[in-house]
Amino acid sequence: MHVIHLSVECFPLAKVGGLADVVGALPRYQRKLGIDAWVVCPYYDKPFTRDNDFLSIAKGSFFQGSEELHYEILKETENSLGFPLFLIRIPGKLDRQEVYCYPDEAEQWIAFQHACLDWLKNSGTKPDVINCHDHHVGLIPFLTKYANDFKEFEKVKTVFTVHNGQYQGWMNWSKSILLPAFDTWKWGLLDWDGLINPLAAAIKCCDAFTTVSEGYLQELYTQANGLEGLFFSEAAKGYGIVNGIDDAYWNPAADKLISVNYDVESNKKGKAKNKKAFCEKYGLDETLPLLTYIGRFAVEKGADLLPEIVVNVFSYTENKISIFILGSGDTQIQANLQALLAAYPGRLATFFGYNETLAHEVYAAADMILMPSRVEPCGLNQLYAMKYGTIPIVRGIGGLKDTVRDISEKNGYGFVFSDATSEEAVSAIGRALDYIGQRGKMQRVRRKEMELDFSWHKSAQQYVNLYNQL
Ligand code: GLC
Repeated sequence: MHVIHLSVECFPLAKVGGLADVVGALPRYQRKLGIDAWVVCPYYDKPFTRDNDFLSIAKGSFFQGSEELHYEILKETENSLGFPLFLIRIPGKLDRQEVYCYPDEAEQWIAFQHACLDWLKNSGTKPDVINCHDHHVGLIPFLTKYANDFKEFEKVKTVFTVHNGQYQGWMNWSKSILLPAFDTWKWGLLDWDGLINPLAAAIKCCDAFTTVSEGYLQELYTQANGLEGLFFSEAAKGYGIVNGIDDAYWNPAADKLISVNYDVESNKKGKAKNKKAFCEKYGLDETLPLLTYIGRFAVEKGADLLPEIVVNVFSYTENKISIFILGSGDTQIQANLQALLAAYPGRLATFFGYNETLAHEVYAAADMILMPSRVEPCGLNQLYAMKYGTIPIVRGIGGLKDTVRDISEKNGYGFVFSDATSEEAVSAIGRALDYIGQRGKMQRVRRKEMELDFSWHKSAQQYVNLYNQL
């Protein structure tokens, strides 16, 4: 079976969030199951494209409105990611340094989707399934069915994976002239509330959609940024498949990015050494429990609560805790955190930015990770944390609810709270600290977490089962 994954992020080519981790790993695990999985992404002017070799395998052109666009297909020659990776380069549109935040994003992603179909058509490539990831490639299920030039893809099955339903790719109807010519009787499939809505179009037109956890699928029926009714009416073709983690890359026993490697047996000493090295570097007290937050500074992630949580945790513990925050995003949240640094010398440290190596170091060093998310379709950080023996303190929604079991339950191994408020978060941190104070108990929890299997093996099989079913 031939499956093409379409995404605008893929680790290590281009990563903004968890989407990249999924697209950079899932296809490799699918190949182990005998599926011929490929990944097609936009070309970026980034270290990965500069440091690897690519072969130009095709060229073509098409009109986007009145502008003629020329594309080139580059194939990575070494298969270094464990699957064939193809990049679409369009000078002026798909050759940028960043993934998002350009004013002509709609033009960029329309061009990406159009070029992809044009190339597949001209090269006579007809996959069994196209698996599209998030709204940037949400027009594909519509175009394969109703675009005049791409009729040959009518029977190709499309699976659409929702990593985040908050963002939908809305565009004004004036942009419709930029799309490849399509059967205009079908315009209603593109529309939601008077706008072209690529996420809605994908859910309407795909053969099946998946969400990155079962819990998130259920939540979308009542909380989907305006698309609740649509998700509900299309529920029959919805599947919740929880994300896995790439255990070849996220593994404390083999991780080259951390100070000292450790496994379940050696976790006590191993984590202590990593913590010591880390705390020395960031001027934190290694004898105190270390709490961390890693991620985007976004309201969706509950990051706006962090400043208040930090102040309240320090007051609750009488400053007997170290906190490290790694992230970037909302500048106001960042400024609020920055303003706290002077008040807690030797107790609070931050790194504002994206830093993959540092994230590994933090997972290895920290005792607890906090995720007070308002929306969390799956969440990967709690999975990475557990793999490194770091206790998750999470709000019980979406994928967090599915993957973290509260300590009060049978076989529990984490701390779950229900409301995205600083009070609830601080009280859950308090519960975790009580536990950490009791060394034997803490060790048992750590071991249990490290032994949990959150690898891709099972979930990759679930995707394959779905493809087979289609
Ligand atoms: C998005 C979601 C996150 C999920 C990731 C990968 O970033 O916000 O919860 O883990 O996609 O699917």
